[in-house]
Amino acid sequence: MALPAGEGEYTNELVNAHALVWNHIFSYMLPMSLKCAVELNIPDIIKGHGKPMTLSELTSALPINKAKSHYVHRIMRVLVHSKFFKKVDVEDGSERNEGYCLTPASTLLLKDSPLCVAHFLPLALDPYLMKSCSSISEWFADDCGTAFETMHGLKFWEKAKEDSSLNEVFNEAMASDARFMSQVILKDCKKLFAGVESLVDVAGGTGTMAKAIADAFPEMKCTVLDLPHVVSGLKGSSNLNYVAGDMFESIPTADVVLLKSILHNWDDEACIKILKKCREVIPAKENGGKLIVIDMVLGYNEENNIVTEDQLYSDIVMMVYLNGKERNEKEWKQLFLDAGFSSYNITPALGVRSIIEVYP
Ligand SMILES: C[S@@+](CC[C@H](N)C(=O)[O-])C[C@H]1O[C@@H](n2cnc3c(N)ncnc32)[C@H](O)[C@@H]1O
Repeated sequence: MALPAGEGEYTNELVNAHALVWNHIFSYMLPMSLKCAVELNIPDIIKGHGKPMTLSELTSALPINKAKSHYVHRIMRVLVHSKFFKKVDVEDGSERNEGYCLTPASTLLLKDSPLCVAHFLPLALDPYLMKSCSSISEWFADDCGTAFETMHGLKFWEKAKEDSSLNEVFNEAMASDARFMSQVILKDCKKLFAGVESLVDVAGGTGTMAKAIADAFPEMKCTVLDLPHVVSGLKGSSNLNYVAGDMFESIPTADVVLLKSILHNWDDEACIKILKKCREVIPAKENGGKLIVIDMVLGYNEENNIVTEDQLYSDIVMMVYLNGKERNEKEWKQLFLDAGFSSYNITPALGVRSIIEVYP
């Protein structure tokens, strides 16, 4: 039966609003399904098959209880919908069938690929870490610096120091990002490092980015500074060495300081301290001194909705775990001026991130 004029429109709006609310409430099932697919090795199994893989071929290749094979298509259905896999027609003997293929997104989940970003799944979806995400409103009412502290009673970096398995998962996720970003940067933005004689990667993790730069520029002397529990025991090479230390205390001297995914971990006051320390160790601009900051610039690549959502989510992640933040250009400019730098230049949008060259 048709609704009276006007009422249908109201009902439509109401049910669409309801659908939107449900969409966001249940959207956590997407990363959970993705985690399941990666843990079951589905992208690698499809790649190894060498051609589109039918559901029955996939289920027989999976390391699962075969009585549960009939559930697999439901995990695949949501991941096809989200463009992690694609379904194409295949000839299966005399029958026509459908087979799963990889998409550009799932090729980034292949375990042996140098571009693999799957290492972020066990970090982002770690149940212990995720608990802090459900205490954000509690944190708003208390005196703690972060929701992580509200939930666990200590700062994130203190926890990473005392919990070796978190330290390992965190460092591996960061290293995978550094592998990805170094490939992109050394392919398209190599001139950033032209003529640089020495570089220090401040809070450079286990050194993946610095290693890639050191290999690409054998004449450059590269140093990785990070906390002792991150770099202890790591071996350098002829043009790469590790220094264990605290960037708030001391930074090794170099022509160029690299800060990749660091400043967004900290509030403005801490960033100004880090930036001032960096400024002390580099030469004047005319002698080649500069910082290279690799981080997000809110508002850049805004027309890409996925990028905008990534940036907004990352901002909340920084708030929850570290009291850090993502910044727009105006906020970056203010930080650089407050730390005594004179100018900067943004190379926009390597996807979600940008490169900011900052000059003394
Ligand atoms: C988000 S990770 C980024 C690592 C690396 N730059 C990358 O992008 O792969 C932040 C790094 O800051 C390091 N860190 C935290 N506090 C530090 C401090 N006070 N001094 C030096 N490094 C620190 C952590 O150990 C961690 O490796």
